[in-house]
Amino acid sequence: MTELELITEGWNESIIDEVSNFVFNNRIGVYRNTEDADGIRRYLTNIQDRFPAEKILMVRRKGTLCGWASLNRDTKSIVELGRWQPIIEQTDDEDEIANLLLEGILDYAKSNEITRIDAKFSEINDNNHEDYQRCAKWFNGKGIGKSEDDVYLTLQLEHFKVPRTDKLGYWLVWLQYADEEDLYKCYHDTFSKSQDTEFLNSSESQKREKFEQAIHSDLFNKYLSFVWKDGERIFGFVIVHSRNEEEHIHLFGILDEYRRKGIAKNMLLKTIKEMIAGGCKMVSIGVDAKNTTAYNLYKKIGFNVNSRMIVHSINFK
Ligand SMILES: CC(C)(COP(=O)(O)OP(=O)(O)OC[C@H]1O[C@@H](n2cnc3c(N)ncnc32)[C@H](O)[C@@H]1OP(=O)(O)O)[C@@H](O)C(=O)NCCC(=O)NCCS
Repeated sequence: MTELELITEGWNESIIDEVSNFVFNNRIGVYRNTEDADGIRRYLTNIQDRFPAEKILMVRRKGTLCGWASLNRDTKSIVELGRWQPIIEQTDDEDEIANLLLEGILDYAKSNEITRIDAKFSEINDNNHEDYQRCAKWFNGKGIGKSEDDVYLTLQLEHFKVPRTDKLGYWLVWLQYADEEDLYKCYHDTFSKSQDTEFLNSSESQKREKFEQAIHSDLFNKYLSFVWKDGERIFGFVIVHSRNEEEHIHLFGILDEYRRKGIAKNMLLKTIKEMIAGGCKMVSIGVDAKNTTAYNLYKKIGFNVNSRMIVHSINFK
C-alpha cells in the first residue's frame, strides 16, 4: 500500500507557510537563489492576491508535503501551472509523486472544459539550466513536449537615446479606441504569417481567447498600446502590459505587406519614446527563439538577452 496521498485544497495562511517552506527546501529554477522562505512567501502571497490559484494539488507522505502544484486560469480554456511546477521532493518515490499530481491535474482539466495546460519554466539562465533539463526529461518522458521556446530581452531606458526616425505617414491611434474586430483581424492575419509557434499551434478559439486576454487584462496599459492605420485599415499594433518594475511588450506585429520597410522599428521606437516620457525605466519583450526577424530587430534597437522561457503543454483538442 502506498503512503502517498493526493489532496486538493484552497489557499489559506497555513498552506502558504507550508508551501513556502517546502519550495525553499526544494529550491529549483527561479527559486534557486532565494535566501529565505520569506522571499518565497511574499511572492506567493503577492501572486495569490493578483491571480488566485483555482486549485492547489498537494501530495503528502504520512501527512508531510512532498510535492505540489497550483493551477491558475489563463484564459477560459487554458490553465497554467504555477512557475516551475510541479515542485517535487527529490526522493526515491519522486516519479510516483509526480504521477499522482499529473493524475490530479488531468482529472481537473477534464471536468472543467480545459483544452490546454501550460507548464512554464521562466527565467532559465546558466544558473538553473540543469534544473530545467531535469524537469524537461520528466515532461518529455510523459509525452508532454516543449511547445514554446522564448527568448526574453530587456532594454534599460534610463540612459537610452531614442534615435531619430522618419515620419511614417500613417495614422497612429490609441489601441483602446480601435474597433475590436478590425484589430482582431489584423492580429490574426499578422501572426498567421509569422514564426510564432504558440500562435500557430493554437486552435481558433484559443487564439481568440489569448487576444481578448491581452487587451482586457488588468495589466493592459492603455496609454502605451497603439495601432497604426493606413486609411481605415489597421495594419500594425503594439500591446503593452505594465508589470512590477517594467513595461512589457506583450504583442506586437504588422501585416505581411507592410514588412521590411523599417516600419516595425519605427513603431517600437515611438512606443519606447512614450515609455521614457512616462518615466519607465525598463522595457521587456519575449520572442520565439525561431523568430529571427523579430529577434534581430530587437537586438538592433539595443535590447539584450536576459533569459529564456520554455513551455511544455498538454493539449486536449
Ligand atoms: C517582426 C516584425 C514585426 C518585423 O516587422 P518589419 O516592419 O518587417 O521590421 P523592420 O522593417 O523594421 O525590420 C525587419 C527587417 O527588415 C529590414 N529592413 C528594414 N528596412 C528595410 C528596407 N527599407 N528594405 C529592406 N529591408 C529592410 C531590417 O534590416 C530587418 O532585417 P533583419 O531582420 O534581417 O535585420 C514583422 O515581421 C511581424 O509582424 N511578424 C509577425 C509577428 C511577429 O513575429 N511579431 C513579433 C513577436 S515578438
